[in-house]
Amino acid sequence: MFITFDGGDGTGKTTQIKLIAKWLAEKTGKEVIITKEPGGTPPAMEIRKILLEGDVNKWDFKEEIALFYVARSNHIRKLIKPALAEGKIVISDRFYDTTTAYQGHRDTDGILKTIHDIYVGDFKPELTIMMDIEPKIALQRSYQKQNQQHALLPEVEIKTMSSHDIIKNQEIRFEDMGENFHVQSRKAFLEIVEREPDRCILMDAAGTIEEVHERIVKALEKDGRISSI
Ligand code: TYD
Repeated sequence: MFITFDGGDGTGKTTQIKLIAKWLAEKTGKEVIITKEPGGTPPAMEIRKILLEGDVNKWDFKEEIALFYVARSNHIRKLIKPALAEGKIVISDRFYDTTTAYQGHRDTDGILKTIHDIYVGDFKPELTIMMDIEPKIALQRSYQKQNQQHALLPEVEIKTMSSHDIIKNQEIRFEDMGENFHVQSRKAFLEIVEREPDRCILMDAAGTIEEVHERIVKALEKDGRISSI
């Protein structure tokens, strides 16, 4: 089963993914792999670095769409599909919904759809948890996290494929795009949930780590969402 967590910067995805991965591993007895975009494979990590570090204006959104999708293609081909074929549960911290929201809200020419069809086609997550919170609060959290990254995260024994060599405090190109950019992106995430209610669960990401975790567990248990795993 392929599950993604998506939403704005600072919505707590990474922390919640670790907790839910542990919960899923215990509940299903299956191996759970956590991965992250952009990233997941060594070539995709190289692309990550050039996308997330440096000056806000170094790429325009069309160039970003192409780079994110090349990284994603490699990630799907080399990590996600092989892991799914082995019966593992794969959880990705961000996937194509971020491109739809962050780059797509500026794309009036349909570039994203063309590139999506080339590199991803019909491949979809079975379930997406869309973490939602007021952008002002989320961005504060996100900037704070740059300094306290490791202190905040609970330790769980789940294999993490990609994030070990991320130098967090240099990767703030998108956080630095300003509040309006993040307000527009949030709107775009909410529109995705409206368009695809069967795949997406809108998750209120405000509250303590434990409160949000409980909320996610409840949502997964509701309507037998995970009974097919
Ligand atoms: P990351 O530090 O991983 O953010 P977070 O911990 O909040 O998930 O950085 C990923 C950044 O890249 C984030 O600001 C969103 C941006 N991004 C895009 O703009 N488009 C994309 O398609 C993806 C995957 C990420």
